[in-house]
Amino acid sequence: MLHRKMLQEIAWADFQKLSLAEKAPYFVQSSGRPYHCVMAQQFDREMLDHLCDLATRIRRIGKSKQGMDYLSTLLKNKRAMLYFTQPSTRTFLSFYSACQILGIRPAEVRDPDISSEAKGETKEDTIRTFSSFFDLIIMRTPMQGFAEEMAWMISNTDRPIPIINAGSGKDQHPTQALLDIYTLARSFEKRGGIDNKTVLFCGDLARGRTVRSLSGLLMNYTNVRQIFAAPECLQIGQDILDRLKAAGIEYEVTTDFKGKIPEADAIYMTRLQDEWGDVSGPPYKPEDYFFTGDDLKVLKREGIIMHPLPRRKEISTECDNDSRAVYWRQVRNGMWIRAALIATTFCRDDEITQYYMLNNR
Ligand code: NCD
Repeated sequence: MLHRKMLQEIAWADFQKLSLAEKAPYFVQSSGRPYHCVMAQQFDREMLDHLCDLATRIRRIGKSKQGMDYLSTLLKNKRAMLYFTQPSTRTFLSFYSACQILGIRPAEVRDPDISSEAKGETKEDTIRTFSSFFDLIIMRTPMQGFAEEMAWMISNTDRPIPIINAGSGKDQHPTQALLDIYTLARSFEKRGGIDNKTVLFCGDLARGRTVRSLSGLLMNYTNVRQIFAAPECLQIGQDILDRLKAAGIEYEVTTDFKGKIPEADAIYMTRLQDEWGDVSGPPYKPEDYFFTGDDLKVLKREGIIMHPLPRRKEISTECDNDSRAVYWRQVRNGMWIRAALIATTFCRDDEITQYYMLNNR
């Protein structure tokens, strides 16, 4: 468990100089529960197991009307602002749905051009305004580190409220990583869980924030090998490799995606993140980094294919009906794990577990 440090006790200039591991304790509550959810590094194994178990309980409770009615009473007194100034379908809708499951009333700003930012108001003032009306801010921005900076800023006002990072620039997407972990855990439930598995990442690893966050969360599991398959110009950042190396975690960097498929327990495909512009490097054939119907033949019988979505051509639709394709399950898992995260943030997790023990076992 991480031992909380107070964001009120450190200046922003000093906070910025800390490593990710040093920053993590500033985002948790004294109980170890997350307060702000900013980065993958703030989750340890204990919390990941807790969130996965809670997501399953919420999912099972939610199967009956009585259970759904119960869940919707839990946070009826709370309101959430979904501030998404970058395109989003799934993340937005799953947070929206997670809020509704718990009875939270969600509101949204998705276009800064129709908020007072268009009149020149700073993003900081915009966030502070949200905190005057809401009890939680869930935000997605193209700016790396912005969620982190706003978490520090809002904690240093007289109305601190939790901030959840729903994607920050090319850097972090911690809640996508949580749903990926939940999907991996469910997929490998009968095979000893995530420990001792090999995860093969493929695609735009240089700018894919989901890969960067998931690589961090996987570090909490025992003997999980990470393989990064991408053309040179899209290969994973050295900062991630340095972190794996320092933690003694086995990894491999390769341009040979197809050759690695038979070794993988999970294949994590990503799209080209070309909204960030062009990359320079030796030319490559995009189709060398696509997963096709033919590749199903060499994938392990119990291997799984994942994708954070949206996809383009990286996974051919012929794979969609194969039982090993779990990307649509990931989407729904996102709603349950986000509900679990929000319930834990507001300390209603133990109560849900008690209800589950009484009514659902
Ligand atoms: C991802 C993102 O926004 O980083 N989408 C998502 O949240 N599921 C992946 C992507 O856009 O490629």
